[in-house]
Amino acid sequence: MTKRLYIETVGCQMNVLDSEMVVASLRQHGYELTSDPLQADAILFNTCSVRQHAEDKIYSALGKLRGTKRQHPEKIIGVLGCMAQKDQQLIFERAPYVDLIVGPGQLHKVPELIERAAKGERRQAAVSLDRTDGPLPEIKRSHETFDPLRDPTMRPTPFQAYLRIQIGCDKFCTYCVVPMTRGPEQGRPPEQILDEARVLADQGCLEITLLGQTVNSYRYSDGARTTRLSDLLRMLHDVPGIRRLKFVTNYPKDMSDELLETVRELPKCSPYLHVPLQSGSTAVLERMKRGYTADDYRRMMERIREKLPEAAVSSDFIVGFCGETEDEFQQTVRAVAEYRFKNSFIFKYSERPGTKAMQRLPDDVPYAVKQRRNNELLQLQNQISEEDNQQFLGRSVEVLVEGPSKAAQRRGDTGPVLQMMGRTHCDRIVVFDGTLRQAGQLLNVAIYDLTAHTLLGAVQTHHVAPAVVQLL
Ligand code: 5AD
Ligand code: SF4
Repeated sequence: MTKRLYIETVGCQMNVLDSEMVVASLRQHGYELTSDPLQADAILFNTCSVRQHAEDKIYSALGKLRGTKRQHPEKIIGVLGCMAQKDQQLIFERAPYVDLIVGPGQLHKVPELIERAAKGERRQAAVSLDRTDGPLPEIKRSHETFDPLRDPTMRPTPFQAYLRIQIGCDKFCTYCVVPMTRGPEQGRPPEQILDEARVLADQGCLEITLLGQTVNSYRYSDGARTTRLSDLLRMLHDVPGIRRLKFVTNYPKDMSDELLETVRELPKCSPYLHVPLQSGSTAVLERMKRGYTADDYRRMMERIREKLPEAAVSSDFIVGFCGETEDEFQQTVRAVAEYRFKNSFIFKYSERPGTKAMQRLPDDVPYAVKQRRNNELLQLQNQISEEDNQQFLGRSVEVLVEGPSKAAQRRGDTGPVLQMMGRTHCDRIVVFDGTLRQAGQLLNVAIYDLTAHTLLGAVQTHHVAPAVVQLL
């Protein structure tokens, strides 16, 4: 008998990919997806711990299920992902009706744990070893990747897929909980990655985004040979069917010349680099233990501009980090003005248990100040994004069409003509009037208008070449 699964995913692309894997494995155990939690036999939350706010939302969603579980004790409620790894038994204390908690390194166990919970063995838990729980190889083994199962229906679109090349993180930035929740950095073997890319291409995937917390630090050594991200890109470039290759997120210190040259050389590599700066102040970067100074980042940007002049660069920032003075914040403002990022993700510092910042540095910037700095930086970035987009006015760009635009989805438009959206090679969003049939195609779109985050255009019909006209 078919059982129904409801899954809610928050957080980064890694979580989106993890959810795809969980759904794929549960399908093999007779589950079908539903968008209605009340209809579901199993309700799963794939969670994020990077900021407090994301956790609050999950605890509040769990709170709303208290009554549901009382009325329908047979429904299985599960918490997966980083919050499960971080809070472990605390989740059972705060929400005693939760049936299972599964950390990101244990997701292959979800079907078995659901089965056990359904048999009445309540409070199933599978988490990986903590960083201090034993010798490194054992800790590494306990953070498993779970990647070969793919489910095209769970992707952002059927033509795009994420592919994990690395798990965990060893950088230990002082504000970040990821090295604890996702464990030690481990590169996946290149053969596995290549096999998975071939499967994805066979499923009709045109664009692959390689994922890693510090994706450009990727290394895999089999003793005889070491493979780096640039080698992987060369291998994946030869996979027939794949048209675009992207990779996120980059760590500034590991942005090697070789990688930049590889991106320049390989036409399928998107000229798009997400390289978070986090702060424009060297003193703040030091407190964050980011491992580079503001000048180091400037030199890296100079190399990017020299080797990849057309590349779009985007960044992340944390405002209001411990002890951030107005002057330090203004250095961040100046950095945004100087580098003119395509876009930036801006976050208010959120103190996280288990991090060095929480242990050693007071979270002393008032919330209102964080909010004001966030707004100021965002406003500047939006202005820059809009100015930057003006270079495309009157130009034609190649767009990989993803599907109906957000506005068309909200309105429930089905056509025949509706607003469609896609992305350029450098990751800019383009909307245009089109048809559902265009999804998955690469089309030339002429840009006639723009906002800070979107280019508006019209699909160009094919010109008949003059020589052909003469023949006609
Ligand atoms: N508070 C606020 N933002 C954070 N990030 C990571 N940890 C925190 C934190 N404790 C941001 C960083 C990172 C992005 C994914 O989330 O900018 O690049
Ligand atoms: Fe967190 Fe720093 Fe690792 Fe990124 S590089 S996941 S910010 S510890």
